[in-house]
Amino acid sequence: MAIGYQQQQLHIEQLSAQDLLQQYGSPCYVYSKAQLLTNLQAYQQAATGLDALICFAVKANSNLAVLQLFAAAGAGADVVSVGELQRALAAGFAANRIVYSGVGKTKTDMALALKAGILQFNVESIPELQRLSEVATALGLEAAIAIRVNPDVDAGTHEKIATGKAENKFGISWQQVEQVYALAAELPGIRIQGVDMHIGSQITDLAPYQAAFQRMLELVERLQALGHTIDTIDLGGGLGILYPDARQAVSIDDYMALVRQHFANKGCRLILEPGRSLAATAGVLLCQVEYVKQGPGKTFLILDAAMNDLLRPAMYGAVHAIWPVQLHPERASQRYDVVGPVCETGDTFSMGQTLPELAPGEAVAIGQAGAYGAVMASCYNTRALVPEVLVSGQQSALVRRRIEIEEQLSWDQMPDF
Ligand code: LLP
Repeated sequence: MAIGYQQQQLHIEQLSAQDLLQQYGSPCYVYSKAQLLTNLQAYQQAATGLDALICFAVKANSNLAVLQLFAAAGAGADVVSVGELQRALAAGFAANRIVYSGVGKTKTDMALALKAGILQFNVESIPELQRLSEVATALGLEAAIAIRVNPDVDAGTHEKIATGKAENKFGISWQQVEQVYALAAELPGIRIQGVDMHIGSQITDLAPYQAAFQRMLELVERLQALGHTIDTIDLGGGLGILYPDARQAVSIDDYMALVRQHFANKGCRLILEPGRSLAATAGVLLCQVEYVKQGPGKTFLILDAAMNDLLRPAMYGAVHAIWPVQLHPERASQRYDVVGPVCETGDTFSMGQTLPELAPGEAVAIGQAGAYGAVMASCYNTRALVPEVLVSGQQSALVRRRIEIEEQLSWDQMPDF
């Protein structure tokens, strides 16, 4: 366990959370290098013998230090903006291991990605395809594309992170797709390379994947029969992890077995785009209790971390583990509503959470925060932007400094009038 208790104290690898808080201040994100790599290796090992490229979904955690270690360990990258593309390149991902998804690519975005020489554009609409053709032709370049297919399956996840239903904005509808490939084959500057899907995130059941894979498999065969070259099959990401409220998680091994069962020996290169399942369990948000407030019938544990630091509970009603940094087996337990200081009722991490009694100044860790944590953080309420720390064994390094209030004030300007 890279993140767990040693002698009653929460550790990230060999360092105590308490010491890290002292050194880097509160709140701060801390990631375990070993856990990040273990998660990647789980995919890589399960993919042994398959021609598969594991492209980390950069949106889940785009810190350069995290990206760099995934790049060095042989991963590719899935990006959804040129900002992410620039991060991936800066972190050392070879351009030909980067795929680019997203429904709103601008001409400038396309030009940048074309010049960089990325592996694949995942195209989500006919106007995007036409625009990409124009941009590529003007540059005298060729865009390798996959059409993102919307397989119309219900991923059984939170409505804000489901993407594979017909009513979602993503991909080309199942019925339209052959037409779009026919158009792609005609357009200058476009080279059809593969097919793509991504049905949603925090998926905790294999059934939606099974349904979608079956459709993709049939589609690949149909497209090949129509004479299109299909060299890559991009299956997206979405594998869920075991948050405290998840009924179950799908194991990477079971997921990869399903991938193998459908797509091994098709002569195609497989592309996977996992984000959460690579990063979530490798991170914690460390923070402190500011106040214990007695309300009528309720006790509030007011932390110094808030929804601006970790948005998931406020945005999706997500539940994260909350761990005391120091265990005190002799203490009585208490039910708390764990909240942040931001002036919104939504700034609540957990309701009715049972924890050992805690006092102001004592430290708490919010678990499973390595994915969609720091990347979604903001300075809302003019709070400092939360820093990030990477731990490896007994070493730690600040990988993003805290952006303090003075610096934020300097971002604004007074007008002349
Ligand atoms: N590929 C594409 C095209 C995606 O849109 C996503 C995530 C992924 C891959 C990676 O999915 P993952 O393996 O991480 O599930 N902010 C939300 C999650 C949004 C996911 C958006 N797309 C959250 O905090 O739960």
